[in-house]
Amino acid sequence: AENRRESLLIVTGYASKFFQDSLWETEAGQSIALSYYKERGFTDATIRKFELGYSPDQWEAFSSQALKEGYQQEYLEETGLSVKRENGTLYDRYRGRVMFPIFNFTGRVIAFGGRTLKNNDKTVPKYVNSPESEIYHKSNVLYGLNFAKKAIRDEDNCFLVEGYADVISVHQAGIENVVASSGTSLTVEQIKLIGRLTKNVTILYDGDAAGIKASLRGLDMILEEGLNVKVVSFPDGHDPDSYVRLLGSTGFKNYVEQNKKDFILYKTNILLKEAGTDPIKRADVIREVVESIAKIPDTIKAAVFIRECSMLLQIEERSLNTELNKMRQARY
Ligand code: UTP
Ligand code: MN
Ligand code: MN
Ligand code: MN
Ligand code: MN
Repeated sequence: AENRRESLLIVTGYASKFFQDSLWETEAGQSIALSYYKERGFTDATIRKFELGYSPDQWEAFSSQALKEGYQQEYLEETGLSVKRENGTLYDRYRGRVMFPIFNFTGRVIAFGGRTLKNNDKTVPKYVNSPESEIYHKSNVLYGLNFAKKAIRDEDNCFLVEGYADVISVHQAGIENVVASSGTSLTVEQIKLIGRLTKNVTILYDGDAAGIKASLRGLDMILEEGLNVKVVSFPDGHDPDSYVRLLGSTGFKNYVEQNKKDFILYKTNILLKEAGTDPIKRADVIREVVESIAKIPDTIKAAVFIRECSMLLQIEERSLNTELNKMRQARY
């Protein structure tokens, strides 16, 4: 089984080289893909570091080259790089896409995300991702962790973003302790991976409805794993990647520092805005915030947040604690 895993890793490593060569060494790569990366503000050094590539806009460019070089069909299929036709021949899963290799903890390529260059064509998926395989279990992978792990330890904090481009742009801006759950909603396994390096997570999700919803879900999961969580939100229509480009590195760093909210303040603000002045809805907000606090395993920490909640919502600590204890009892 170890042999098989190694064979698969050799294939994905080869594919990454192939896509990089196709980016840097071909006319189409340079004119279509390299220019795309440059427009996104990625420097040469960044493109090299993240091993970004390009899949030629042809049906079999990769598969036929790989077979010619002796890579086994079985591994090409298992990694999802090639797909088998009815007649048994192979075609390429990724065609005419900019390629983001996904690395494991030690920096070996285990999968890919391929982004379309047709921004306005709603009939094609924006990103095509590798299927699950023996070397790629997406719920156990955080994009960028291989590059971020040292900085996460040093800074004792992990920034969590949604996408590949967010990791790359934020990293390029000099914030290297950043990872993405990309291609899946945040999982407990991913939080545990972070938890081995730091107990502090800062969520930087997209400033759209989906991003806000995911951040509320994510912060509860992070609290439940016993980690501390803060949230930075962005204006609607922006994500960390677009905001770095708008503000520049220094401006972005300042924005993050100045807009970091602890989860109580963040969640309260969002829910109160939705509730308006309706007293019944405002009572629901209080309950929902206490529900998040009830997820914190450390009771002393929970008590500190109850106090903050009490001040913020102008509710006596005593009644918040009554509510908290009810929720705790219901859970255990
Ligand atoms: P977004 O839609 O926010 O894309 O999805 P993005 O990262 O900002 O992409 P750009 O800036 O337009 O290039 C966030 C992440 O969700 C996953 C990808 O990992 C993406 O980075 N995703 C998104 C998919 O897997 N498939 C999709 O079709 C879309
Ligand atoms: Mn799996
Ligand atoms: Mn989004
Ligand atoms: Mn986004
Ligand atoms: Mn984006």
